[in-house]
Amino acid sequence: MSLIGAVQEVGQSLRKKIVEPTPDAGSASRPDPLMEQRDGLVGAPIARIDGAVKVQGQARFAAEFSFDDMLYGALVFSTIARGRIDQLDTAAAAAAPGVRLVMTHQNAPRMAPLPVFMSAPKAAGGEQLAVLQDRFIHWNGQPIAVVLADSQEQADHGATLVRVSYLADSAVTSLNDAIARGCTAGAFMGTPLTFDRGDAEGALVAAPCRVDAVYQTPCHNHNAIEPHAVTVAWQGKQLLVHDASQGVSHTAWSLAHVFAIDEQQVQVSAPFVGGAFGGKTLWRHQVLAAAAAKLAGRPVRLNLSRQGVYRIVGGRARTVQRVALGAQADGHFDALIHTGLSLTTASRSMPEPFILPARCTYAASHIKLGVHTANVDMLANTFMRAPGEAVGSFALESAVDELALLLAIDPIALRLRNEATRNPTDNKPFSTRHLRQAYEDGASRFGWQRRQPQPGARQQGEWRIGMGCATATYPYYRLPGGAARLTLSAEGRVRVEIAAHEMGMGTATVHSQILAERLALPLSQVACIVGDSSLPGVVLAGGSQQSAAIGAAVRAAQEQLFAELLKLAGRASPLAGLQLAEVQARDGGLCRRDAPQQWLSYTDLLAQAGRTQLVVEASAAPPLETQHWSKHSFGAIFCEVGVNCISGEPRVQRLLGCFDCGRILNASLARSQLRSGMIMGIGMALMEETLFDERTGRIMHANLADYHLPVQMDVPEIDVMWTDIADPHTPMGARGIGEIGITGTAAAIANAIYNACGVRVRDLPITLDKLAG
Ligand code: MOS
Repeated sequence: MSLIGAVQEVGQSLRKKIVEPTPDAGSASRPDPLMEQRDGLVGAPIARIDGAVKVQGQARFAAEFSFDDMLYGALVFSTIARGRIDQLDTAAAAAAPGVRLVMTHQNAPRMAPLPVFMSAPKAAGGEQLAVLQDRFIHWNGQPIAVVLADSQEQADHGATLVRVSYLADSAVTSLNDAIARGCTAGAFMGTPLTFDRGDAEGALVAAPCRVDAVYQTPCHNHNAIEPHAVTVAWQGKQLLVHDASQGVSHTAWSLAHVFAIDEQQVQVSAPFVGGAFGGKTLWRHQVLAAAAAKLAGRPVRLNLSRQGVYRIVGGRARTVQRVALGAQADGHFDALIHTGLSLTTASRSMPEPFILPARCTYAASHIKLGVHTANVDMLANTFMRAPGEAVGSFALESAVDELALLLAIDPIALRLRNEATRNPTDNKPFSTRHLRQAYEDGASRFGWQRRQPQPGARQQGEWRIGMGCATATYPYYRLPGGAARLTLSAEGRVRVEIAAHEMGMGTATVHSQILAERLALPLSQVACIVGDSSLPGVVLAGGSQQSAAIGAAVRAAQEQLFAELLKLAGRASPLAGLQLAEVQARDGGLCRRDAPQQWLSYTDLLAQAGRTQLVVEASAAPPLETQHWSKHSFGAIFCEVGVNCISGEPRVQRLLGCFDCGRILNASLARSQLRSGMIMGIGMALMEETLFDERTGRIMHANLADYHLPVQMDVPEIDVMWTDIADPHTPMGARGIGEIGITGTAAAIANAIYNACGVRVRDLPITLDKLAG
């Protein structure tokens, strides 16, 4: 099933308005007046409006909600990769102090299999795995029991007392065994991951200059600050779920399927989420907590330990990628080949679509792209910040750097020589593309002209210094399903409600700004409420598209509000008889476009009609605009590193990103989003790697002490800048900024390391052992 189809299905069953695609895209086809507006609230560096409640500890997260009589849950995880439970002894756990229930496959309520991400069972392909319904084990770390107790400590202790023995089957837990079992052509969310134009292999062989190399990226685990957590209560037939979620409507819909109840009976609430990068979706813990609460007849909080997140929440899949570039002596690409393998699981095939950057970045004459998959018997992987682009840009942009060295062409000049004027794979024109400007502005601010082309040419004390750059890219998406409810009060205050997500990126702040601007109200008169499945819309905080989805819905709702206000305007009113296109917002009211002095405040409009409030709800027009244009954000990442001559330790000393992401809606929040992506890129380049015991498929370091992430001392001053050129074919002129920061960054660091010390590392992470000596 396509993603769009899945969104529509979720919307229909939750009885939310989802507009059907029509040839007339409605307001989406008219230019957005906000796009060129330059001196108002849009773009302004407004501080997070939820900052105060967060620093005061008043913002409640999923594991901070309480119910009377609530029990605390702890999980027991399997210790084999594949096989069956033989003996399961829960007597000691059940008898432990405070323990109220031990739930295993022997006593769990009957439940339907977990729908694969946002799709009805079976629709997305793959075998459907039941949750705690049988004795079968599918990965090392699968939850096999839930212990409920009066306190967290008692539950944790009880979990240690569950005794289990297994009948193990042979399991595929290594790359080589997976390849030996067989590879198949991969698809991402229903779209095949192959592309061929011309004869790329032939052109490669014929090209006077070529690079042909293999790059590897490891598994990564999700490590949001807030571990996954859920607090659930059955209230009569209603299931109330406080979740840490980036898809509240999808989770509500999926849980209804699992428990075979009406979608209206499930409410998922997540007003604040402590960070999410693609992993805060539906995993087993929500199902287990709801099932255990049902069995115990009491509310349950299941707050995953950090180990729990590692065991049951999938991360980024391992990849092995070949990039081959064939070029003329002047740098023109004859052949671009990007193929390889992503490890997946039978239960859900979600390979890293690492060919995505190669689909849109370079105008090569012959192109061959393909992702194959091979299955392991391990925890399923999932989305993780820029799935595809993050690891794909590492391989592609490293190869471009290798070619630049071979050709003795400056790496920026080589990229600009192959700059695409149309999307090379679908031949659509770009909506806007200013990568050249991003490189020029970024290079000048970074001081690229000081770079020595020959590696190892700069040394300061015991540090070799180098510079590198790489292209960042991420597509613009807008899924259907955006809808918003606007409530205008008699006092002239406006509230917008939408089932979207605040995961720390500033959703409520940005959309309050935009709404205030559209209605010509002060920011203090506007509120943006998100994070509950009972609100309008089926919006996902993913694919860097939540702002576009919300923005399109808010615009539709604002137009509907104005239309309703015009209906209320009496015959004596200065707005009598006017159409929507003839009015605009000014100073907390509506005025004639061609005679702004003919104005009436919102409060007067309501008062004269005898109304205490006005409520409208509207759906965003379907995102048809994407069919005509190729919409991608780009950026230029610059890095300066030091590599220690003695130890080989690499340290990022300076990092700069110059991005072309359309209109920037809030300069302060955008800088934070882009910088955080780049910090995650530092982790990907130098530290992050999930280590498995290949004999058992067990994660060896399921904790934040041993799984390395960048900390303050690893992160230098990061410079973030942007072109701020509006994209006329998107709501508000903006394209997403949530993911692009991580793309290109690892390659820029790897390229800088090569420039510093002459060692080309093609398998991440670039740890000191690969550089020493
Ligand atoms: Mo993002 S990987 O779409 O949360």
